[in-house]
Amino acid sequence: MTRKILVTSALPYANGSIHLGHMLEHIQTDIWTRFQKQRGHQCISVCADDTHGTPIMLRAQKEGVSPEAFIAATREEHLADFQDFLVEYDNYHSTHSEENRELSELIYNRLDQAGHIAKRTISQLFDPEKAMFLPDRFVKGECPKCGSDDQYGDNCDNCGATYSPTELKNPKSAVSGATPVLKDSEHYFFKLTDFEAMLKEWTRGEHVQTQIANKLDEWFDAGLEEWDISRDAPYFGFKIPGTEDKYFYVWVDAPIGYMASFKNLCDKTAGLEFDEFWKVDSDAEVHHFIGKDIVYFHTLFWPAMLHGANFRKPTKVHAHGFLMVNGTKMSKSKGTFIKARTYLKHLDPEYLRYYFLAKLNSRVDDFDLNTEDFMSRVNADLVNKYINIASRCANFITKRFDGQLSDGIAEHPLIVEAQQASDEIAKLYEQKEFGRAVREIMSIADKANKYIDDEEPWVKIKDEATQQDVQLVSSVALNVFKILTVYLKPAIPMIAAKVEAFLNVEPLTWNDSQTVLEGHSINKFKPMVKRIEAEQINTMIEDSVEQAPAAELADPLKPEISFDDFDKIDLRIAKIISAEHVEGADKLLKLQLDLGGVTKQVFAGIKSAYSPEQLEGKLTVMVANLAPRKMRFGMSEGMVLAAGPGGKDLWILNPDDGAEPGMRVK
Ligand code: MSP
Ligand code: ZN
Repeated sequence: MTRKILVTSALPYANGSIHLGHMLEHIQTDIWTRFQKQRGHQCISVCADDTHGTPIMLRAQKEGVSPEAFIAATREEHLADFQDFLVEYDNYHSTHSEENRELSELIYNRLDQAGHIAKRTISQLFDPEKAMFLPDRFVKGECPKCGSDDQYGDNCDNCGATYSPTELKNPKSAVSGATPVLKDSEHYFFKLTDFEAMLKEWTRGEHVQTQIANKLDEWFDAGLEEWDISRDAPYFGFKIPGTEDKYFYVWVDAPIGYMASFKNLCDKTAGLEFDEFWKVDSDAEVHHFIGKDIVYFHTLFWPAMLHGANFRKPTKVHAHGFLMVNGTKMSKSKGTFIKARTYLKHLDPEYLRYYFLAKLNSRVDDFDLNTEDFMSRVNADLVNKYINIASRCANFITKRFDGQLSDGIAEHPLIVEAQQASDEIAKLYEQKEFGRAVREIMSIADKANKYIDDEEPWVKIKDEATQQDVQLVSSVALNVFKILTVYLKPAIPMIAAKVEAFLNVEPLTWNDSQTVLEGHSINKFKPMVKRIEAEQINTMIEDSVEQAPAAELADPLKPEISFDDFDKIDLRIAKIISAEHVEGADKLLKLQLDLGGVTKQVFAGIKSAYSPEQLEGKLTVMVANLAPRKMRFGMSEGMVLAAGPGGKDLWILNPDDGAEPGMRVK
């Protein structure tokens, strides 16, 4: 039976680059999609950039471009990253699109008409310095549920709870650092509670993984709450129908973006019907691949919104853990926060695709990209086991048997065994047990290599009596190699294409694991995969190291100077031998400064902060070679150094004990 399957990855935010954490998701989505297509199903994968919300609005402002121009540029960048990683979406759209506006309004209006929207005035955190309501992510504080600190205002990285930012303990505005104040505003709410019974039943089906079902039970026990879905202007997003200054919260139109991307594809593809996939009684499947941090949105809000608006619900939400590098969270300073583009400058995308395949399972656990293990695993499996089968046999066929594979090998036990693994491997792919599928695949590769070792074709080829056996041995091995290529193709499509050219066959589909190449002529073998060298990984890490950005000063630094510039200034320790008021000057004190034998007179604007008595006898620092300036009250022959904004807040510099008048400061 041909299945109709729609697959999505979470929509990446349009305000940052794609990194290997994102790639863990997009590559597994792509492998699963390619597997389904190879099986002959109608499988369509869509994604889009998630473009709305305050962070993107502020980011565009900061760069001095319109949000539309900003998100368009990011989308191009994201698209190129995915393409170069061989991640093939049938459509890559944007949440800032007409399809998404229409669908968001439609879903909202249906929910509203069915009585699932509540309106009430709430007190919300407002940044008094920036004069704006603070989005959840722009308030930081302690999680109200588990108490861990430095958490965002919408949900907790540590315990996964979601809450309203006013529930945070010790909140601070992430925009200005100010302590937010409460301000009233009317907000719109989605009554998630209306759907509790439906959700409890839905999440108990096969729609989520066991680990997620357990998490959901905790959330049900804690009690569902109404969800605040409106945001006040200024906001980059879609206006809520019937309002002038209220916008959909970005998380409302983001998942609807899955539908919008698919709608956009339907509009340009003959025979593809939106309703067939999204109507309530649809026989198509919808699969969402997401990270564990956004499970609440996808397993509670999203199915409830769909249900309430009379659309079908997802078939399955596949959640994965986070990418760790060498056992710890990706870190910019360690160079393990690796951008997709940086990886691609140093390494082949199929290495990473294979490594993800080899280690992924259907659980929600974090994934460790251990760089040593990555290198040895790829080299051992792909180069030494898999490709090695072909490179050991190909030349015998092309050089000694005119490129012809033997006849009569279809019943060979090794080929039959490789064919028979098809169902089990397909089952494991289907269940997202990729690592277990690889174990099956590599055990077949091991057997093929052992077969070649035992048959010793390089010995047999030298002896007239056994030469003919070499064609058979090589033909059997190359047929197993072809079957292995079918099984690995979802993860390594480019290598598979090279294999298809070498074997002189049409693009392989899953069923080609059951056919045998007999009396068939093949092409010359060319190297298909290079070994990973440690140097490539090291330079990628070096390339990824980012210095912590210099903290921004309220009073920014002056342009950089050279040491020579600095050295022109002659700074000296000076002793204040006298300080007196100046007739007619309300800011100045007249100072006599001893530089160790030489006396200089300086008029200093520090009267608001010091009385003459506080200064006499003190040591300080003066600029001794400043050109003398003639003032109304006499000559000023330098400057004393002081810090502070002015008025009472001025502090002259004091050297540490031991400094003597006249000493150079350098
Ligand atoms: N825009 C939302 C998703 C909206 S879906 C309707 C979002 N964007 S994101 O860019 O922050 O993340 C996109 C996906 O990448 C999420 O599934 C997230 O879990 C995943 N990952 C982001 N960083 C990750 C790792 N370090 N490791 C694995 N996946 C990670 O959330
Ligand atoms: Zn928490």
